Amino acid sequence: MSNTMEVYSNQLREFVKEHATGVAVVILTGAGLITVRRWMAGGVCRSKARLDGKTVLITGANTGIGKETAVDLAGRGARVILACRDLGRAERAAGEIRKRSGNGNVVVKQLDLASLQSVRTLATDLTASEERLDILINNAGIMMCPKWRTEEGFEMQFGVNHLGHFLLTNSLLELLKKSAPSRVVTVSSLAHEKGEIHFDDINLDKDYEPMKSYRQSKLANVLFSRELAKRLEGSGVTVYSLHPGVIRTELGRHLWPTIALWKRLLFRPLMLLIKTPWEGAQTTIYCAVDHSLHNTSGLYYSDCAPKQAAPQACDDEAAKRLWDISASMVGLA
Ligand SMILES: NC(=O)c1ccc[n+]([C@@H]2O[C@H](COP(=O)([O-])OP(=O)(O)OC[C@H]3O[C@@H](n4cnc5c(N)ncnc54)[C@H](OP(=O)(O)O)[C@@H]3O)[C@@H](O)[C@H]2O)c1
Repeated sequence: MSNTMEVYSNQLREFVKEHATGVAVVILTGAGLITVRRWMAGGVCRSKARLDGKTVLITGANTGIGKETAVDLAGRGARVILACRDLGRAERAAGEIRKRSGNGNVVVKQLDLASLQSVRTLATDLTASEERLDILINNAGIMMCPKWRTEEGFEMQFGVNHLGHFLLTNSLLELLKKSAPSRVVTVSSLAHEKGEIHFDDINLDKDYEPMKSYRQSKLANVLFSRELAKRLEGSGVTVYSLHPGVIRTELGRHLWPTIALWKRLLFRPLMLLIKTPWEGAQTTIYCAVDHSLHNTSGLYYSDCAPKQAAPQACDDEAAKRLWDISASMVGLA
């Protein structure tokens, strides 16, 4: 037995001597990839906070980071409401979330953010049926779709990512205030950094570009959180917006079909480097539960830490102007 081991280790030594450069390249590349992968994984929410007796609502929780957020918060004991547009997918996700979290108190509600009527119906239902709402997570999103319109005729990405959540949050404010201390968490994106609010053409009718629209909607998420925090000062409801990282989810569903097959194949190995949905959910969970944020409101986060938002996302005048325009678009003005 020890002879065989000796033979193997001699052969290994010979191999390494003969292919020293190749072996060094493989080891360095492997170490480099592991380092990059760890760096890409970002921060982890270490909070052990429990949410027994609390109620959480998460939009778009049937897949991606919304579903992982739901598993975590249900695991902490919360009643979790999944607000989703496809009830079949949502019920299947709810089953998985109950099983993985060991918490049966996970319910599904219908919400299509591309319909203000659907948002109003959900808000009326929740106000009548729920005693409290401790954490509202505006997570649902659509990215780089063709030029589509919402039921009321607004540009789809601005309508779903911003306007729908704007109306939902405003319609649930009384419930949130009643449950204070409570939190509103809105999932934005790094994409906000190159965004601009096109006040003269908010539906981008003159010049629609899928990326331009996504960036505008994600900038709107950060400005909305900033203005909301101001308006809620002293109410006990605190507000957070965040970039979750770059994550392997279904978000690219409208983008991928527009990319040439060879480019998609080239990108495929890189997909292994980007965040898993569990990793992507960590900053949302951090903003939703971490005690250290108890007295902080209106800031922007990334990798479970505060991050400076882009200058145009810190423009109080633009935030107020966007609020007023949004309020009139959804009929709250
Ligand atoms: N993935 C990333 O790399 C990344 C990076 C930065 C920011 N984000 C943000 O993270 C959030 C979650 O995205 P994800 O990556 O988890 O994407 P995802 O896997 O595509 O999940 C998006 C969720 O939003 C829902 N949704 C879309 N349109 C809706 C509508 N009209 N009404 C109600 N729900 C709707 C989807 O429902 P269906 O399944 O029924 O379509 C799905 O549940 C988004 O706000 C996104 O902008 C993601």
